[in-house]
Amino acid sequence: MHFNAFDMLVPVHQTPGLWRHPESQIDRFDQLEYWTGLSQTLERAGFTSLFLADIPGIYDVYGGSHHAAARGGVQYPLLDLQVMVPALAAATEHLGFGITASVTYEQPYLLARRFATLDHLTKGRIAWNIVTSYQDSAARNLGLAGQIPHDERYDRADEFLEVMYKLFEHSVDDQAVVADRETGVFVDPERVRGIEHHGKWFSVPGEMLTHPGPQRTPLLFQAGSSARGQKFAVDHGEAIFVINAKPDKLADQVASTRAALAEAGRDPYSVKFSAMVTIIVGETEQEAQARLQGYRQYVDTEAALTLFGGWTGVDLSGLDEDAYVADVQTEANQSALAIFTKDPSKKWTVRDVAEFISIGGRGPTIVGDPVQVVDELVRYQEISGVDGFNVSAAVRPADFERFEHYITPELGRRGLLPERPQTPVTLRESLLGAGPRLAADHPAHRLVVG
Ligand SMILES: Cc1cc2nc3c(=O)[nH]c(=O)nc-3n(C[C@H](O)[C@H](O)[C@H](O)COP(=O)(O)O)c2cc1C
Repeated sequence: MHFNAFDMLVPVHQTPGLWRHPESQIDRFDQLEYWTGLSQTLERAGFTSLFLADIPGIYDVYGGSHHAAARGGVQYPLLDLQVMVPALAAATEHLGFGITASVTYEQPYLLARRFATLDHLTKGRIAWNIVTSYQDSAARNLGLAGQIPHDERYDRADEFLEVMYKLFEHSVDDQAVVADRETGVFVDPERVRGIEHHGKWFSVPGEMLTHPGPQRTPLLFQAGSSARGQKFAVDHGEAIFVINAKPDKLADQVASTRAALAEAGRDPYSVKFSAMVTIIVGETEQEAQARLQGYRQYVDTEAALTLFGGWTGVDLSGLDEDAYVADVQTEANQSALAIFTKDPSKKWTVRDVAEFISIGGRGPTIVGDPVQVVDELVRYQEISGVDGFNVSAAVRPADFERFEHYITPELGRRGLLPERPQTPVTLRESLLGAGPRLAADHPAHRLVVG
């Protein structure tokens, strides 16, 4: 059972309002020492990686402005994680880093170099969380009149990935850097070639700007859960991040994605699923429940609806709290909206949505003593078929420290934590249990270059 920590370089990630909790230190989110300290805690606690979310815009859907996001610190202010990661890698040995980067707003040629650089500097301890993004505010500030429609973003993303694979896998040979002082040759030019990519959205004829890192292509994480998003995951993902409070519902998604992987000629069990979860643990059940009650005093309803608006593009401001949330066509995150509007067991009101999101965002929250928490993780895993968890913390970093103190020993007793090799390995090796490079059955290897 692997564990990634799910976090973001912001005051509020998934649990609004809790930055005001007396134990919260997240007002230090703009200090490097906060994040190096957290990374070291996670490494000691047995986490495989720190998975960092990122968005290229402000959440300005709720109330039609940035005010609520600013007031509540809702994924704002937001630091640049790509700048942060090398410092975190220098403070740790084994921990991997999930790096979210948007294919809708980055350029493949430069992004490939940035990931190769990060792969070198971290000794192969990075993953790329490939996102297509979902905010109008991002589109407006990055040169577009509006968002590219949802499914078209994924079509364009397919070509973006094609360019990345060509740059990562096919442009520079492993033996290209010779650094031969006798002959005066640093890079053998015969071992470097232009990729001659001329497509619908991208034209990249030239050579990759740097030499391959330990993983060549970073470990590929994918988190889109719409029908088109799942197809993209099957075509590219090596690890898939899912969110669902109900493990039986998730079981359908996991099973259908594994079936689609097999159909596409990929080993369905080579791809790892991680489910988001928030954990509130206490020494005893009573203490854990008391903590939950304590947390509830700090929830921020407006900030919760600001998160909802950001994810879904749907503005619930000014509505009666008892009004039902109806389904609409959105060009934002379709799977995030569907959780509330396509639930056969319940019609969600505005109040229900705000209450649900307030602690733990769209995922499940597990509350209990260490034995109860691990029992529930085991049950969730058995029902859903996921391979591990992306753990989000309500009070930061206290809930991660409590994980180390309470959950790690219980996981250890049951032999549930992956064994850590003495010598650090790449993230692809530690998360997938595979080699450092893309598997032979990955579609990237089927590309014809030139
Ligand atoms: C679990 C999960 C995590 C995501 N994390 C991010 C993120 O950090 N940044 C981002 O721009 N999009 C993120 N997304 C958005 C998707 O990757 C995708 O760009 C968009 O929401 C459309 O997704 P859909 O296929 O589920 O409709 C996330 C989506 C999910 C389901």
